Amino acid sequence: MPLPKAELHVHIEGTLEPELAFALARRNGVELPFADTEELRRAYDFEDLQSFLDLYYALMAVLRTEDDFAELTDAYLARAAAQGVRHAEIFFDPQAHTVRGVPIATVIEGLARALDDSERRHGVSTRLIMCFLRDQSAAFALETLQAARPHLHRITGIGLDSAEVGHPPAKFREVYEAAGALGLRKVAHAGEEGPASYITEALDVLGVERVDHGLRCLEDTDLVERLVRERIPLTLCPLSNVRLRAVDVLEDHPLPRMMDAGLLCTVNSDDPAYFGGYVGDTFHAVREALGLDEERLRELARNSFTASFLEDDEERRARLIAEVDAYDFATELQE
Ligand code: ADE
Ligand code: ZN
Repeated sequence: MPLPKAELHVHIEGTLEPELAFALARRNGVELPFADTEELRRAYDFEDLQSFLDLYYALMAVLRTEDDFAELTDAYLARAAAQGVRHAEIFFDPQAHTVRGVPIATVIEGLARALDDSERRHGVSTRLIMCFLRDQSAAFALETLQAARPHLHRITGIGLDSAEVGHPPAKFREVYEAAGALGLRKVAHAGEEGPASYITEALDVLGVERVDHGLRCLEDTDLVERLVRERIPLTLCPLSNVRLRAVDVLEDHPLPRMMDAGLLCTVNSDDPAYFGGYVGDTFHAVREALGLDEERLRELARNSFTASFLEDDEERRARLIAEVDAYDFATELQE
């Protein structure tokens, strides 16, 4: 039985495996600029965040109908459940679809159909987090929040993603204020490629409760102290950091140093179809590369539930944390 865990940083569009991409392309009559899945996989050799984003947005062309979004989500949940995920807070990028003429209702209702069945089918509770693309305008983000209004009962929070450098958090002050007034939770990608000051700005100007990545906080000791003191969770994605070259090799990842500093770290997959593994694979990889012992892995799993938006189901959170505390690593490889 795998270690129980929550996943708090996964982009549903980043779970699009090459096989499903080709199947949907055929079904929807979309031409992909790759001959087959092998040729597509060979393109997964990224220089930086932007080179990944170019492919990530291009492949989304295959996602057109409610069924497509439901199928994509159900496939992710099945894989995640097999790796011990018991709770998932899932990002989606509505603007990447509405700009292609796919209505926001199609996207959200497709995702929601799979999420509604998730506990029954996979034993995974879920939350949905709507991300704004920071390389698009603030006005487009506000428009998107308005368009999502009829579906807000499906959405727990908002996030901020896409190309970071040159698009500081403060650009989105207004949409975060509006979302807060609507009762939505707030997270944002910050300090992935962008500087530590973007993390501070996300906290001070946007009022985020959790920081996605936050890797570059290490460049500002006052900020690290603050994150520790305020118990702000970081959703780290070590395999993503290596693939997008924020870190040279996994063995150099600062995760152990960050945990030693008292930061509330979680480990996540980001875009698992592109970066070489789902969250269970990520736990295995960091365990091997960074020599994390069982108590460290248990701490990461516990943190994932502590940092999750399970405030409306504290009983489930407590039960899952108790399962982590009682987990016997000797059963890891047993079915
Ligand atoms: N969108 C999908 N993955 C992302 C990442 N790692 N950073 C920013 N935006 C993203
Ligand atoms: Zn991300």
